[in-house]
Amino acid sequence: MTDLHVVILAAGKGTRMKSAWPKVLHRVAGTPMIEHVLATARALRPRSITVVVGHQSDVVQAALSSQSDVKTVVQEPQLGTAHALLMTETALCQATGTVVLLSGDVPLLTSDTLKALVDRHESAGAAATVITATVDEPTGYGRIVRSGGQIARIVEERDASAAERSIREVNAGIYAFRLNGLFKTLRNIAAANAQQEYYLPDIVALCRTSGFPVETVMVPNADETRGINSRLELATVSGIVRQKKNAELMAAGVTIEDPATTYVDSDVEIGADTIIRPGVSLEGRTTIGSACEIHSGVRIVNSRLGNRVIILNHCLINNSTLADDARVGPFAHLRTDVAIAERAKVGNFVELKKTALGAGSKSMHLSYLGDATIGAGVNVGAGTITCNYDGTVKSQTTIEDGAFIGSDTQLIAPVRVGKGAYVGSGTTIREDVPPGALAVSAGKQRNLEGWVDKRAGRKKNETKG
Ligand code: UD1
Ligand code: CA
Repeated sequence: MTDLHVVILAAGKGTRMKSAWPKVLHRVAGTPMIEHVLATARALRPRSITVVVGHQSDVVQAALSSQSDVKTVVQEPQLGTAHALLMTETALCQATGTVVLLSGDVPLLTSDTLKALVDRHESAGAAATVITATVDEPTGYGRIVRSGGQIARIVEERDASAAERSIREVNAGIYAFRLNGLFKTLRNIAAANAQQEYYLPDIVALCRTSGFPVETVMVPNADETRGINSRLELATVSGIVRQKKNAELMAAGVTIEDPATTYVDSDVEIGADTIIRPGVSLEGRTTIGSACEIHSGVRIVNSRLGNRVIILNHCLINNSTLADDARVGPFAHLRTDVAIAERAKVGNFVELKKTALGAGSKSMHLSYLGDATIGAGVNVGAGTITCNYDGTVKSQTTIEDGAFIGSDTQLIAPVRVGKGAYVGSGTTIREDVPPGALAVSAGKQRNLEGWVDKRAGRKKNETKG
């Protein structure tokens, strides 16, 4: 095999997206479009990857800056796809062999298809090889015009005759080129078309008239070649990615009750016999063990769940870990850095932040637990609040194993409740509670006998007077 280089075009304005944000940074099923394309490019193990940026080049370059294997070149102004490729001439001046040209807005292409492209291109000794697809709805794509079975040229929608528009074989915008002579040919492309742009597809007709061989590779699955030019296409392509992920998970033993409303990012892992109910989002680097239940309306981001974990309806769980047999919800918020140990339970309207809840401990109702370390076997009563913020600093609350926190307790941090201690309902804890002690802070209760009747009498007299 000869040397392989990849160029990705990402300089266009993406006018049809109607966005202030560069098109290639829009997310397809949770991952920026350009990342999908880069992942496919890397699978080819090329000698170099060059991304052509232009419109909002600073934003795209910043998004790519951490990727040391990616070079960028700037196309300014953006005069069309042929002009964009021409901008890589300096970057590739030492390169020989084959360049694979990818489009930043065609994210579904598989590396297998690209390998087939390179194989065909190199075995045929072609100057250019084009990926094509036969589609039912060719509107917007360049059409493949053949003569005697051979590709003769590509005509863009805007420049096509009515007869050419009825052609259903389209240009995927993905090509392999022989580097030798490529830039010379590109310079011969004219901007004599409806858009007054230098069209890369015009290279086909130029090669053919010069007698250079041009090949095509038709993809069996036309979905791979879908380009994203509008929000509708973004949603359609995202849907295809999601359904593929859902299908993989189901094949691996996960029950997804309603794949149409289940949103699982590509890096998420889920164990067998876990049940995902409708309307669930699992995002980022989330892993879920086996035999879990994730109920409707749950969103889990960058979190790790063990086995047999149950998340009841409408919980938001972010950047947290939940051990085996934990149970959370409904309506709980694990805001960030929360660790729920084995068999621990979090219930309705409970918010946790930077908090560890020990094995078998429970916080079942209406509580805020922030910056807290809670041991094993602790019962946190309804309405318990860790007062972790005094307006200036955040402070820690520690509750040791086996403690019982009565309902409506405020724990004014920094504070510690010792092992096995008992806090009475309605207590404001300002000082540490020793192990085994009972803490109460409310005053003695007073009952005013006959008060209700006396008040009724008073009211009657008032209305009479
Ligand atoms: C292009 C092809 C069309 C093909 C379709 C497949 C051309 C003229 N047409 O059309 O035959 O069917 O892709 O999806 O190539 N870009 C630059 N610099 C520019 C212009 C564009 O880098 O000056 C980039 C864009 O950011 C995009 C890619 O090239 O990533 C394709 O450009 P776009 O305007 O989307 O072309 P299409 O109209 O989709
Ligand atoms: Ca496009």
